Formats: sequence, structure tokens, C-alpha cells
Amino acid sequence: MAESRTSADGGMETSYGFREVADGEKQGLVNEVFHKVAKRYDVMNDVMSMGMHRAWKDGMISALNPRKDPAYKVLDVAGGTGDIAFRIVEASNRLAHATVLDINGSMLAVGAERAEKKKLSDNLTFVEANAEELPFEPNSFDAYTIAFGIRNVPHIDVALKEAYRVLKRGGRLLVLEFSEVDLPLLDRVYDAWSFNAIPKFGKAITGDAEPYQYLVESICKFPNQQDFATMIREAGFSRVSFTNYTGGIAALHSGWKL
Ligand SMILES: C[S@@+](CC[C@H](N)C(=O)[O-])C[C@H]1O[C@@H](n2cnc3c(N)ncnc32)[C@H](O)[C@@H]1O
Repeated sequence: MAESRTSADGGMETSYGFREVADGEKQGLVNEVFHKVAKRYDVMNDVMSMGMHRAWKDGMISALNPRKDPAYKVLDVAGGTGDIAFRIVEASNRLAHATVLDINGSMLAVGAERAEKKKLSDNLTFVEANAEELPFEPNSFDAYTIAFGIRNVPHIDVALKEAYRVLKRGGRLLVLEFSEVDLPLLDRVYDAWSFNAIPKFGKAITGDAEPYQYLVESICKFPNQQDFATMIREAGFSRVSFTNYTGGIAALHSGWKL
């Protein structure tokens, strides 16, 4: 890709995919994307990742290993239609509590409907709010998860500091995000799939290619594994590490508030 990734020094706040926008403009554009795709979001996730997002999300939950305890509280930020929160509650034998926080009411509405169907509503709270300004007291949660959300948040450094603030001492941060492919042939196949196929599937399934063009471009701009680990350390987290999934198409970053 001709476009270079953003470094740990910043730049995501003004990049809307490959377009440079003014600071303060990105969030509104991102919100339009997710309002448009909300109803088709889950089916498009399967199409875009050829179903692989399910295994990556399962990997995230295994790494978290949620406590089977009603006092265990997780905040799932940019939780959208609920995939991560549902898995956390199920993995805790339906004992833990998860708060699904998202800036977009359309995504949360789909999530709340899915939760009812799965009879998981008693273990979930849905909150419409911004990752950059969490409406919670300091030291409130045992874990903070965010899956495929952080690259959409304009000020990633601010969101990470908020994550640190609301976690209890001993709490865990887990971030699942598309990342930099580190296998020579896979990177070319992946680029071809992303830039040719995904926007076309998006148009065929939702009638609009533009949101999917943004999604694939935003993946290319997101800092690579090492740079993102640096950002997590800069927010105060300890023992920061990452695991690549599928040759780095996605990566799971972990940090602790110690
Ligand atoms: C790609 S979806 C991920 C949804 C879900 N976590 C999953 O893995 O399926 C990204 C989500 O980030 C949310 N988002 C974007 N900016 C946000 C912000 N500043 N604060 C909270 N959520 C945000 C969007 O509304 C959208 O629901």
C-alpha cells in the first residue's frame, strides 16, 4: 500500500481512512458509517473476514479468561452489536457482568435486540457514550476490552488513558484490532481482498461501498503492533504484549494496570 501507517506519535485523529480531515471532524464521519451499516454489520463481519473474526474474538476471550463470579465486571468499549460482551458473559457461566459502551445508538440497538434473543440481558448494561470520556468512576472495572473499535476513535491516547482510569488495580486491558500482516505472500493477497472485494461485497449487501472503503483504509492507517504497544505503555499500562492472529491480519494487545 502506498499509504503509510500512523506511528505512535499520533495522526489517527485527523485521518479518516486515507483522507486527511480537521481535528474534530473524524468522529462525525465515523458515526455516519456505523449508523449506515448497523443492521447489516454482523453479516458483513462474516463476509469481510471470511468468518475469521469469530476465532479471533474467541481467542480474545480465552486470553481474558473471565472469572466465574457475579462481582466480576468488564467494560466492553466500542462494543457495537455485543459480540465480545456476549462471549464474556457466556464464558463466565453467565455470572459476570458486562457493560457494552458505544458512541452509536444504532449499533447498540442491534446489540440490545440480540441480547434479548440470547436471554443475556440480565448480565448486560448498554451505555451510549464516547470512549474518550467514559461516564464511570475511577477503579470501576476488572477488565476493559475493545475489539475492532480503537482505530475508529479519533484520540486513541485519550481513550487509552480513560481505560487506565476506570480499571481497578490489577485490571486488564485487551485490544483486538486489525494490524500489520507479517507474511510475505499473505500481505498481497490480503491487500487485494481488502481493496477489491470488500467494498464490492459491501455495495452488494448494503447498497453502499463507501463505508467499507473507509473500513479497509482505516485498517491500513492504524499503527503497527510495536507502535501500538508503545501507545499502550505511554498510557501507563505494564507488562504490555501482543499476539498476532492469522499472520498479523489481526493482533491482540494486552496490558495491566499494576
Ligand atoms: C467495527 S465496530 C466493532 C464492534 C464490536 N466491538 C465488534 O467487534 O464486532 C466499531 C465500533 O466502534 C464504535 N465507536 C467509534 N468511535 C467510538 C467512540 N469514540 N467511542 C465509543 N465507540 C466508538 C462504533 O460506533 C462501532 O460500533
